[in-house]
Amino acid sequence: MTASLEELFTAHLQLCGVGNDQLVGIIAEHGHKADYVQAAIAGARSLGAKAIVLSASSLSNPTLPPALHKNGRDIPALLAAAGECDMVVDVTVGGLIHSDVRTRITGAGRRMLFVAEPPEVLERLESTSEIRSRVEKGRDLLRAGRTLSVTSAGGTNLTADISGEDLPITCQWGYVDEPGRWDHWPSGFIACFPKDRTAQGTIVLQPGDALIPWQRYVRDTVTLTVEDGFIRKIEGDGVDAANLRDYFSAWDDEAVYATSHMGWGVHPTASWSAFEVYDPRSLYGQELRSVAGSFMWSTGSNRFANRETPAHLDIPMRACTVAIDDHVVVRDGKLVN
Ligand SMILES: [Fe+2]
Repeated sequence: MTASLEELFTAHLQLCGVGNDQLVGIIAEHGHKADYVQAAIAGARSLGAKAIVLSASSLSNPTLPPALHKNGRDIPALLAAAGECDMVVDVTVGGLIHSDVRTRITGAGRRMLFVAEPPEVLERLESTSEIRSRVEKGRDLLRAGRTLSVTSAGGTNLTADISGEDLPITCQWGYVDEPGRWDHWPSGFIACFPKDRTAQGTIVLQPGDALIPWQRYVRDTVTLTVEDGFIRKIEGDGVDAANLRDYFSAWDDEAVYATSHMGWGVHPTASWSAFEVYDPRSLYGQELRSVAGSFMWSTGSNRFANRETPAHLDIPMRACTVAIDDHVVVRDGKLVN
């Protein structure tokens, strides 16, 4: 590492357009990531902005049932304060990603940035305009497309309907320099939420694909049968298939079996090996989500289909071919320019 956390935040907040007389709100959880809170304050102040810290006792979702946290009066109070800020930096442990909090802050025109990765990942995967233009190119293809398809030599063969002008698209290049924009620093991927209940086919997970937030690689082949947007069968002889069946059924909620966003990574310096090189539990998984040429899809939560559940797996896969209609964007795990 060559930069301090404070220097990283200063440079990144500058990229987000923070400057004189702006107010930056930092949302945090008591007792967690105090160094990030301090770095965000220092970064904002060094750019001439003011900073306030909005801290609550617990905001993160659980990763296993039961979901204990019920939103109380802390959330409306937090939203009221966040609404006064020009930009909100979310340093909560789990991130207010799929929550109504995020939608309401960005819906009010505020820009919002989530930060969770260790400092060396923030530095090594810093955002660039090249990443942004790769993401924007993907967005334009998705907007014009009708069908997203993914295939692999391992047996994956899935299609989903992405037609229509109102296709929800998530463009993540890692910084927020436009009103109402949300992003996660660092990032480099493009994803869409296909029309609900239209994904059909088979997804075959192979060793080396990743399970986030389990923060580990798939070890055994798992065959998932997807019908009308929902996973209907999970087959495989190994512990992965057994654990996935166990995890999904534990929620006792049909919503967890839904497919959610689908897309691909474009970040040139993100590496598949991150879960081996670092302590994987110290990572949020942005590096694996962003590897150039991955196919990244997810399960469960989908705010565009009014499907809310804390259960949400992001699954980046290697060696897939992804196409928008006849236009191949990823071939055998390599990004096509
Ligand atoms: Fe996700």
